[in-house]
Amino acid sequence: MTVLHSSALPGQPARHRVCVLPGDGVGVEVVEAVLPIFEALALPIDLDFGQIGWECWRTGGDPVPAETWVKIAAADATLLGAITSKALQEAEAELPEHLRNTSRVYVSPVIQLRQRLSLYANVRPVTDVLGEGRFRFTVIRENTEGLYAGLDFAAIPAEFEPVLKARELAGAPWHRDSPEDATMTVRLQTRAGLTRLFRYAFDYARKHGYPRVTLADKPNVLRYSGAFAKGILESVATDYPDIAYNIDNVDAVALWMIRRPERFGVIVAENMFGDILSDLGAGVMGGLGFAPSANIGDAGAYFEPVHGSAPAHVGQNKANPSAMFLSLALLLEHLGYHAQALAIEQAVAQVVKHDCQTYDSGGQATTRQCAAAIIERSVLNLSPLNPQTENGRALPARSHA
Ligand code: IPM
Ligand code: MG
Repeated sequence: MTVLHSSALPGQPARHRVCVLPGDGVGVEVVEAVLPIFEALALPIDLDFGQIGWECWRTGGDPVPAETWVKIAAADATLLGAITSKALQEAEAELPEHLRNTSRVYVSPVIQLRQRLSLYANVRPVTDVLGEGRFRFTVIRENTEGLYAGLDFAAIPAEFEPVLKARELAGAPWHRDSPEDATMTVRLQTRAGLTRLFRYAFDYARKHGYPRVTLADKPNVLRYSGAFAKGILESVATDYPDIAYNIDNVDAVALWMIRRPERFGVIVAENMFGDILSDLGAGVMGGLGFAPSANIGDAGAYFEPVHGSAPAHVGQNKANPSAMFLSLALLLEHLGYHAQALAIEQAVAQVVKHDCQTYDSGGQATTRQCAAAIIERSVLNLSPLNPQTENGRALPARSHA
């Protein structure tokens, strides 16, 4: 593994640069555990490490320091561990004295990355990694607007008062003693935002062999914004006559994801609905320890496990590194290292079922043991001598990319 970038000399194959941001808590542990794979697979990738997260906030008042933005911009892709986030007041209280009351506001670094870099598609594949490949679907979550657009108000903005009055007159009584007695959050959806998201979802379905795109929304309640999304979906769908599409209520999708996960292919959803459905998807997989994600835009991408920094488990070398390996596989796929990505995905499925189970699957393997087993398997899977069978059985089919 070479640290820091060196551009290819004439005649040498091009190298890629990956910015690695371990972040906080178990993020640091799982990143550390996967790093040896770059050398083990002889990947022509230079790693550039940067700082992000709670410690940066606590010491410098900025969870994404300026030099980290520069590193991200200079890289072909970014690998992120996990980040600790706390509520506004707690965040303020942890700042050093001289940075308090300076109108600094803690904004989750992942939300900053997604919004500032326009990483509009949050791709979260859900596979039967612990089972026999019974289901395989992907939640594609809108990542820059929707209910997480940042239009979350501590009190009703004055401009909205007439709207609330009209609502009351239309027969929805409500009570408020003072302005502090009500808050509101706006679901922002734009034609441009939904068009690029739906295009991404249809392209993804085509590329990964899924016959259908399902929009998980709530058009029977969110009548106008739901109809807006429906119109855009229908118009984008005309360019993909080979892919079927439908709109399901998000609550029903949640139910069926548990009852019949094999029913789904590509599920696309606005930001908050997709956030919730993708955690549900992680639950269907067997837990957050297995769920990877990719945050993709037209000019950048970062990859991270769906799990957080898990402060309760820090320092115990027990976090499941599978989600981190599968996120790395998504990154490698994105950069064009298809064979290596596949080798890692298969290795995770092989190892977590038979050899190496961390506490979240009822085992006692440590992060490092599990990581070492996955790395060893990945190398074996890539070996030309590998018969592509395991105990006489064919390896599981490619899960996703
Ligand atoms: C996720 C996380 C984040 C989100 C939080 C940490 C802001 O839950 O990536 O799903 O809601 O987007
Ligand atoms: Mg989430």
